[in-house]
Amino acid sequence: MLALTSTSIAWLLFVIILGGWVVYALLNLRQAHDELGSEVEMAANRRPYYDDEELEGPRLTRVLGVGVVLLVIIVIGLPLYWILEPSRLAGATDAKEEQFIEWGSNLFAPTADGGFNCAGCHGGMNGGGGAAPYNLTDPATGEVTAVSWAAPAVNTIFYRFSEDEVRFILVYGRPFSPMSPWGLDGGGPMNDQQIDTLISYMRSIQIPREDCGEGEDDPLSCPSGHLPTSIQDDIDALALASVEDGTYGSYGEALYNLDLSSGAYSCARCHTPGWSWGDPGVTGQGGFGWNLRGGKAASAFPNQSDMVDFIANGSVLGQKYGIQGQGSGRMPGFGSLLTEAQLEAIVEYVRSL
Ligand code: HEC
Ligand code: HEC
Repeated sequence: MLALTSTSIAWLLFVIILGGWVVYALLNLRQAHDELGSEVEMAANRRPYYDDEELEGPRLTRVLGVGVVLLVIIVIGLPLYWILEPSRLAGATDAKEEQFIEWGSNLFAPTADGGFNCAGCHGGMNGGGGAAPYNLTDPATGEVTAVSWAAPAVNTIFYRFSEDEVRFILVYGRPFSPMSPWGLDGGGPMNDQQIDTLISYMRSIQIPREDCGEGEDDPLSCPSGHLPTSIQDDIDALALASVEDGTYGSYGEALYNLDLSSGAYSCARCHTPGWSWGDPGVTGQGGFGWNLRGGKAASAFPNQSDMVDFIANGSVLGQKYGIQGQGSGRMPGFGSLLTEAQLEAIVEYVRSL
């Protein structure tokens, strides 16, 4: 805002100064005309100049006065510029970010609005989770079935993945799912700039975090904040209700299978085949995520608390986890979505599979 006003003030000054020069030039030209043809009498060295009286009198005072005024402008103007410049820079950064968000929202928009239809599958412009029509081909029989594939909420995507991991998902998509590659490197239609603006847009629609740490004043990006307690309470209530009505045998099992906002918070959508299209196979047998059955998860993490840590932080590309796991960055972190107690309960359950 401040930056914008100082820009307009600068333009105004520029126009005034420019106007002044034009007027000065025109006047000078006219005077020059008057002298044409009278060089002999008017030769500069013959023209009488001001006498001392006048030279050192009011004229000198006037010239010095102008000098003082210009000096004052410099003395005040330079520090003022120095003071205003940082906020001008900040203003420019904010303005660019706003522009990115707007460009990103144009890409995110439904096909009917000229976008790439992220909104169509992911539950509208706020990305709250939706469903995608998809044709499954049975590898054995070749039979094609039309299914509706749960598309996870993306308004919590930065709770689960780092920015690089989100970029990877956007560029390369999710193989064998309705989420196609969007980046040029993955064979999609978007250049790096477009992927960046989509990321800016998705940042702008994140559910604001709670309990940001000291000095972390931006609830959209503070690393220590977590999902609002009210949503964690909803997760709790949903899990407890499905234990109560006998759908699941334990709190941990219910959390593993959670169907909140199309399963953005659950494990089943990646670790149980068929879960995403409402036809779950054997729990934990693996799909996009590894097979967790037969004590596999427990033997990968002999120490139970290491497994809780892994699930809280997710995997990181190129980083080892557990006994000999090699992270790809595709396993999300749940530490700022779920509470410690919820994570413990899930781990308890997964180790029993
Ligand atoms: C045809 C429907 C469809 C379209 C269009 C689509 N997606 Fe997806 N997207 C999905 C589905 C389904 C998944 C989950 C795949 C799975 O089960 O692993 C997904 C996954 C994702 C994920 C990872 C979410 C997670 O928690 O694992 C992100 C991020 C994402 N999409 C963003 C986008 C963006 C941005 C666009 C627009 C450029 C987009 N999607 C377009 C259907 C779609
Ligand atoms: C977006 C998909 C996805 C979701 C959701 C997901 N995982 Fe994973 N998970 C993976 C992938 C992929 C791996 C393999 C590691 C890698 O590629 O970095 C993995 C690995 C694991 C492992 C290590 C297994 C081994 O033997 O190395 C455990 C344990 C695990 N996940 C548990 C969970 C739990 C518990 C949840 C729910 C709280 C969960 N996962 C949710 C994708 C997912």
